[in-house]
Amino acid sequence: MAKLFDTANDANSIISREEALRPDYVPTEALHRTNEMETIASSIKPMIGGQSCSNLFICGPTGTGKTTCMKLVANQLRESTSKVIPVYVNCWERPTKMGVYFEITEVLKLLLPRRGLAADEVFEKILETMRRENLAILLILDELDSLVYKKQEAFLYNVSRAGAERGARTYRW
Ligand SMILES: Nc1ncnc2c1ncn2[C@@H]1O[C@H](COP(=O)(O)OP(=O)(O)O)[C@@H](O)[C@H]1O
Ligand SMILES: [Mg+2]
Repeated sequence: MAKLFDTANDANSIISREEALRPDYVPTEALHRTNEMETIASSIKPMIGGQSCSNLFICGPTGTGKTTCMKLVANQLRESTSKVIPVYVNCWERPTKMGVYFEITEVLKLLLPRRGLAADEVFEKILETMRRENLAILLILDELDSLVYKKQEAFLYNVSRAGAERGARTYRW
């Protein structure tokens, strides 16, 4: 019988870099997307200067690099400033507002009881932390349509207006 776990022949595989086929793979650069990445970055830039920025809606065919570009922009943002925190959420995996808030609390390292808090209380804790630590959050909602399928439009409305109404999107040095 063939050796099922023999790795000696792996080098002859027709796939040279299997990790590139994984769903969470992020290449080190996005090819032919300079303009798109500059446009994304320029809409985020005001946040670095302590100003609010407009919500950015990115759409396009599957597999054209939307997720990749956002992740690469987020990586560069993390390297440039500690005052604007990118939080990436795949809304297929987290299709409720609590799920999105949970991702934010994870990134902010907020210690909250996993049970017992209402979503609005969690949101309030997030805003409190942002005000106290003078932080802005760049919330990246990937696969946003799944929030709509799950009837989370009210959440989308609230979160998109959080900065304007609650003073959470701006920060001071
Ligand atoms: N411009 C690009 N340069 C390099 N790799 C890319 C590019 N666009 C897509 N890919 C690769 O194709 C796959 C799908 O891209 P993804 O960013 O998930 O597309 P989308 O979010 O638009 O559906 C990813 O593994 C990514 O590495
Ligand atoms: Mg995508």
